[in-house]
Amino acid sequence: TTIYVPRDSAALSLGADQVAAELELAAAAEGRPVRIVRNGSHGMLWLEPLVEVVTDRGRIGYGPVAPGDVDDLVAAGLLDGADHELCQGVVTDLPWMRDQTRLCFARVGVTDPLAPDDYLAHGGLAGLRRALETPPADVIAEVTASGLRGRGGAGFPAGIKWQTVADTVSAQKFVCCNADEGDSGTFADRMLMEGDPFTLIEGMTIAAYAVGATEGYLYIRSEYPDAIRTMRDAIAVAREQGWLGHDILGTGLRFDLFVREGAGAYICGEETAMLESLEGRRGMVRAKPPIPAITGLFGMPTVVNNVLTLASVPAIVAGGAAAYQALGVERSRGTQVFQLAGNIARGGVFETAFGMTLHNLINDYGGGTRSGRPIRAVQVGGPLGAYLPADGLDLPMEYEAFAAAGAMLGHGGIVVFDDTVDMAAMARFAMEFCAEESCGKCTPCRVGAVRGVEVIDKIVAGQDTDDNLALLGDLCELMTEGSLCAMGGLTPMPVRSALLHFADDFGPNGRRPS
Ligand code: NAI
Ligand code: SF4
Repeated sequence: TTIYVPRDSAALSLGADQVAAELELAAAAEGRPVRIVRNGSHGMLWLEPLVEVVTDRGRIGYGPVAPGDVDDLVAAGLLDGADHELCQGVVTDLPWMRDQTRLCFARVGVTDPLAPDDYLAHGGLAGLRRALETPPADVIAEVTASGLRGRGGAGFPAGIKWQTVADTVSAQKFVCCNADEGDSGTFADRMLMEGDPFTLIEGMTIAAYAVGATEGYLYIRSEYPDAIRTMRDAIAVAREQGWLGHDILGTGLRFDLFVREGAGAYICGEETAMLESLEGRRGMVRAKPPIPAITGLFGMPTVVNNVLTLASVPAIVAGGAAAYQALGVERSRGTQVFQLAGNIARGGVFETAFGMTLHNLINDYGGGTRSGRPIRAVQVGGPLGAYLPADGLDLPMEYEAFAAAGAMLGHGGIVVFDDTVDMAAMARFAMEFCAEESCGKCTPCRVGAVRGVEVIDKIVAGQDTDDNLALLGDLCELMTEGSLCAMGGLTPMPVRSALLHFADDFGPNGRRPS
């Protein structure tokens, strides 16, 4: 019998290693030796650790399984896929799984992340093989035609960025993957790296071939030790397999990849600060232009893309641009891996074509709040994203619709708050976060964020409320218009949205968490 027990860090934090060990013992005691495969997580985090047993009906899931549940489960017939109160049935039939369109996450949770045979058996390398049979310019054209936009948050067309790198003449070029996933409520980059690292390696290799790069760096935040370990192990396996190195798949293509660890600064997710950090300096933002596509790592043309952008590429190249372009709406094509977090009954990742409404995602799949209280606010796009009020959730999940609503989709993180939230405190938090994480290079952000905290405190304390509200408005405008990068430039977004939709919370009679 084959049993899957996730090795994703969400499952590990809930005792998955111990569950695996107990399962082995309990099965041996029954005289039924089992093969335990450590897979990634399917992304239904409320069911973790989700144990799956392979049967002729499919993979039957049990979850959430605590180490103490194992004996009872085995006694009840888990090894044969028997029913039990923790039994969820065939995992692929669950509405959460069935209703997704998994391209980027197709193998996450399904395969053993470090087993090359499993990767190949599930369509791995199809994209790279097809790319290597195609002239580089046509690979770029395919990515451009697919409509793929940067999944890190800014949504810049990936193919156009690659074209700029390809067109820039240089003795050396780089591909850098930004895995400094710092946004609150986001964890898809981590889950992809822990659950299907070869896909990211394949996507980076395709990018390297397309633009003529020979070296790649994967910048992973230090808060992700499991992802760092998994990526390092996967790179070693890929080298052994001839998927990386001096002669990729026997074609003579040269590309190698190295992991670098961040040191805990949010700003190192900004692409130029990340490049500074990769070069061994403090993570300070560089002025743009020049853009990294022309003058990037060590002054060389560099593709800088997010994990999900690069991990979407193999499926696009394997399946063709038209199939990808057929998904989504307007200028948001293909799929996005949305992440449901905060006060939510069912949190996790949900990959679907752009266009599903936020309401649909939160209520139909997320199951509403975990507390059972009404939703009051939802923040989309990280700590610098706007707060949307409960009556504004009918927004389709696509870049332009969010921009038109004064919000942003960002990296696809969705954080839900119930009616106990104090929105003045959340606005204050945005300024405080910016003050804490500012790289200090420009005044609107470095000083503005500190002043922002002070002025919100005065407003809440009822000191010269009208004057201070006007001052806060001016400060927000100055930070938006005058900051060098998105850190200072976007901090006013949550503040302004809180003021707009939750004005009652500001002032001496404002709401306090109950
Ligand atoms: P940006 O709009 O300046 O640039 C987007 C990308 O396009 C960059 O890589 C830039 O170099 C590239 N680019 C622009 N013009 C180009 C051209 N002509 N040719 C080739 N490449 C070109 O946005 P920025 O400052 O890089 O990112 C801001 C976004 O980051 C925000 O919208 C936010 O959503 C997101 N963000 C994401 C976080 C995360 O954890 N993933 C954390 C914080 C912010
Ligand atoms: Fe640094 Fe803030 Fe200016 Fe960005 S906006 S360059 S983080 S000081």
